[in-house]
Amino acid sequence: MTDDKRQSAPGESASLDWIDASIPYSPRFGDTYYSKAGGLAETDHVFIAGNSLPARWPAMRECTIGELGFGTGLNFLVTVYRWREIAPPGAKLHFVSFELYPLAPAEMTKALSRWPELNTLAQQLAEAWRPEPETLNVAFDANVELTVFLGDANALLPRHEFEADAWYLDGFAPSRNPQLWSARILSSIFAHTKPGGTFATYTAAGQVRRDLQAAGFSVERRPGFAGKREMLTGRRSA
Ligand SMILES: C[S@@+](CC[C@H](N)C(=O)[O-])C[C@H]1O[C@@H](n2cnc3c(N)ncnc32)[C@H](O)[C@@H]1O
Repeated sequence: MTDDKRQSAPGESASLDWIDASIPYSPRFGDTYYSKAGGLAETDHVFIAGNSLPARWPAMRECTIGELGFGTGLNFLVTVYRWREIAPPGAKLHFVSFELYPLAPAEMTKALSRWPELNTLAQQLAEAWRPEPETLNVAFDANVELTVFLGDANALLPRHEFEADAWYLDGFAPSRNPQLWSARILSSIFAHTKPGGTFATYTAAGQVRRDLQAAGFSVERRPGFAGKREMLTGRRSA
């Protein structure tokens, strides 16, 4: 992370490139927003199955998901889509995310346009999206609330008191964005996880695994998405 990146003002927009005219890529971080092998399938595999949500949701009356890196909103939309398929009627979902470089609504819409099943949700998100500093809070429907804290998660996470049932750690590859994978922020993630709560991430980087263990999680390696050998999941037991 260069000083230049650290000094960017919260709420400053992301600047995007597009790979093959359709996959959003961040020149600032040198990484894509989601897997070239399939963003929706990656969310299902890494974050939703990685947190065992399809098995947990039927028994939950409410669920809070935390996320580092809101990006295009793909993880959020896939989560709402699956939640509506699986969760008991009337159960409440609160999705809490952090984003330092918010996308413009048109970029978000373009990044999400390849999945027709998400079109209605993507349109709703684009209409609600306000890429300005501070906090975005939207009732998506009677049962789904979205909160996005706009700014650096390192500063904002310790300031907000909530506990997640499951975390999506999605801040680009640790080598590209070490700021979002420090021992300090991973320890703060643990402090913002309910007993019995979980995390999932596509990375299997050794330092990240050790820091998550040191924070208090029991960590498991699972097969990664699209040929990646491993990814990490973990649980806070108490
Ligand atoms: C891989 S992308 C997230 C993809 C996203 N979850 C999605 O569904 O499209 C990583 C995101 O982390 C954001 N980010 C990077 N550093 C951050 C920081 N210090 N605080 C908050 N967000 C950050 C980036 O701007 C980017 O949007």
